[in-house]
Amino acid sequence: MDESGPELFLKREVASKVKESKRFSLSSRASRAIACSAAPMSPAPFTVVFVGAGEINFGSPEGPWNHSKRLENRFGRSLAVLGIIDPDTARAELQIAAKIKQGTHGYGETAIWATPEAAGQALAGEQVDLVIVGAPPHFRGCAAPPADLDLLLIAALPRTKRWLVEKPVSAAPPTALNGQEKVAQAYADTGAVVGAGYMMCALKGVQAIQEMIEAKGLKVMGTAARYYMAYEYARKPAWWNKQISCGPIVEQATHLASLSLLFGGPARLSSVRTHTVEHVDEPGRLTKIGFDEETSVEPGSRIPRYTSAVWKYKSGAVGSLTHAVALHGTTYDTELEVICDGTTFKLVDMYTDTPRLFIRQSDSSSEVEVHAFANDDPFQTQIDALVAGRPKCTFEEALQTYQLTWAIREAGERERLEDAREE
Ligand SMILES: NC(=O)c1ccc[n+]([C@@H]2O[C@H](COP(=O)([O-])OP(=O)(O)OC[C@H]3O[C@@H](n4cnc5c(N)ncnc54)[C@H](O)[C@@H]3O)[C@@H](O)[C@H]2O)c1
Repeated sequence: MDESGPELFLKREVASKVKESKRFSLSSRASRAIACSAAPMSPAPFTVVFVGAGEINFGSPEGPWNHSKRLENRFGRSLAVLGIIDPDTARAELQIAAKIKQGTHGYGETAIWATPEAAGQALAGEQVDLVIVGAPPHFRGCAAPPADLDLLLIAALPRTKRWLVEKPVSAAPPTALNGQEKVAQAYADTGAVVGAGYMMCALKGVQAIQEMIEAKGLKVMGTAARYYMAYEYARKPAWWNKQISCGPIVEQATHLASLSLLFGGPARLSSVRTHTVEHVDEPGRLTKIGFDEETSVEPGSRIPRYTSAVWKYKSGAVGSLTHAVALHGTTYDTELEVICDGTTFKLVDMYTDTPRLFIRQSDSSSEVEVHAFANDDPFQTQIDALVAGRPKCTFEEALQTYQLTWAIREAGERERLEDAREE
């Protein structure tokens, strides 16, 4: 277990937040709405428990993530949010109050629980249609405290039909001792549908590539992914300190790693090679850094500015991933190429609401086709696919992504150590 990561996070984020769980008081309007949804002619309510009252579940001005909104879109009056599990019960209260104030259906009977055990006692073996696990990864993914939240949830809510677990699936190095594989097995043993929050797997452009690969009977020869971060206004300490959120490959480029594996299949982790440009390297000096890295991050914890990794897939194909902390302004630049014999694909603008896909079918033409997917909402597609029992990314696949991203980070760190020994 990486000692410093969870401990640092624990101290900063959740000190003394645990309170008694309690039921949120109902407005009479909300009570009537719930009563209506239980009327004989109404569809059966779709029951949900949120784990984490934060941005992924309830939205943020910084991005499109907001699982509660997608569930409201999907289920309307048949949504019934049974409760929110969060040690920060005050934050959960605020989220419910905001929903009730907006007149959003489904929150009239929502309970607040500080722990999974409290939720388990209150629900007493009740079946839950969906549990969304959106707590920070420092509390998840491992077999022992403080990161055994998944196991506590599985024990407390054993009759859950579907789980959606956010990325990354852990924040500790993936090892037998930390137990990430045990957590995957525990989810598998529930027999439930278990999806993971890699929403780029749900992009329409990704589906278009998959369909053409299948229709033409293509084999993927290689994948090339890149993730260029706009760093000028990035001020969260976690972005700059590897000890807090495991560094830019595990935390950010993980989305592109997951897409790479979707097309390349499982990777051979022992084949991963990584080169980095670090803060001490001349090309790694950043001119627009808006964060006091110098005094607030230990040199050994600073993030690489440029990471270039390559690996073999078990299929024989080759994958590569480049992450750069290099863009000024606020707009990130991401791209995925999938290369097959005769047909090549390039997906860009993945963080916008109109991703574009370039296809070159050089087996029949030298033209490049451009497909734009306007108003693509992968978060909605992801929720809909999970509800239908076919998640676009499974927990098992998300664990493979996690293992690959750590293998990339560790190969880079190993190379730096070897270089230092040689000098
Ligand atoms: N898929 C995506 O695009 C996407 C986008 C944003 C965030 N995320 C992921 O979602 C997760 C949460 O991120 P966030 O931005 O919502 O964080 P956040 O800090 O806004 O909220 C996290 C919440 O979890 C609560 N929490 C802490 N320990 C808990 C525990 N043991 N049990 C239950 N709740 C607990 C915290 O009190 C906090 O309210 C992270 O893994 C993040 O990477 C994914």
